[in-house]
Order: sequence, then structure tokens, then C-alpha cells
Amino acid sequence: MTLDTKSFAEVVNTILAKYENDAAMLVGILQDIQSELNYLPRECLVMVSEGLDIPLSRVYSVSTFFKAFSLKPRGRHSLHVCMGTACHVRGAEKVLDKLQTELCLCAGETSPDMKFTLETVNCVGACALGPVVVVDGEYAGQVTTDKVKSILEGCK
Ligand code: FES
Repeated sequence: MTLDTKSFAEVVNTILAKYENDAAMLVGILQDIQSELNYLPRECLVMVSEGLDIPLSRVYSVSTFFKAFSLKPRGRHSLHVCMGTACHVRGAEKVLDKLQTELCLCAGETSPDMKFTLETVNCVGACALGPVVVVDGEYAGQVTTDKVKSILEGCK
């Protein structure tokens, strides 16, 4: 999805109005923008700063503090491969390699068609299910290289 600055303004203004331009609701405002656009464009952070009458540095510091926020465009589907110890010893590296090969992406990248973002994470608290891949927030457990294609097909 590509939105121009005018569309960014529409998104931000609608969300600011919803929160009555209340600076105390900064996190909720950023969450809504992230949810709408899949990331926090720089232009939107400037609009939030102006709309709430708070320093841009404060908006940036909140935007970079929470891992749920991204300042870079993200794909419509997020794939987080757990590389924690339990998943690693059960083959997470091979799963990651297979995903990277299938998607032609390195971990940390988003596909040019904006469909997938591939990332690695440390333990997601489901070690008994390892190797774990979190697909759009849903846990897939005991993932093998053979299961990678079906995971990707499930994202269509
Ligand atoms: S190490 Fe992967 S869920 Fe704990």
C-alpha cells in the first residue's frame, strides 16, 4: 500500500480526532496509525507532533521504544522465526534458511511487493513447541523445512 502525504494526513487527522488530540493518548494514537498503515511514516510522526503540540523527539522516542512499532514499511504478513536456544537446537536455523530462500529475503527485510516481512526473535515463550515461527501473531510449532511452503501458502 502506498499512501501519499494527503492520505497520511487523512489517516492521522481521523485518529487524532478520535482521541481528541489528547497527548496522554500518544501510545494509542501511534498504535492506531501503525495498525492502519502497517508502519509509522516519518510524515505521520511530524503530524502527530504538531497535532498534539508535543516535541517530535518525544513522538520518536515512544515510536522507537516499543518493538510493536516500525518506522520502516512492513509487509502485510509478518513472519518471526524464533532463534532462542530451544528453537535453535531443534533446527530453527534450517527453517530460517528455507524461509529466506523461498522469499528471497534476508531476516529483517520486507519483500518488494510488501507481502512479507521476515524477522528473527529470541524466545517467544513456547520452547516446548520449537522450532516456532510466529505468523501474523499466530504461533506455528514444530516447524520443519517441509512445513515452510504450507505456512507461506497459508498467507495468500
Ligand atoms: S526458544 Fe523459541 S520459544 Fe523459546
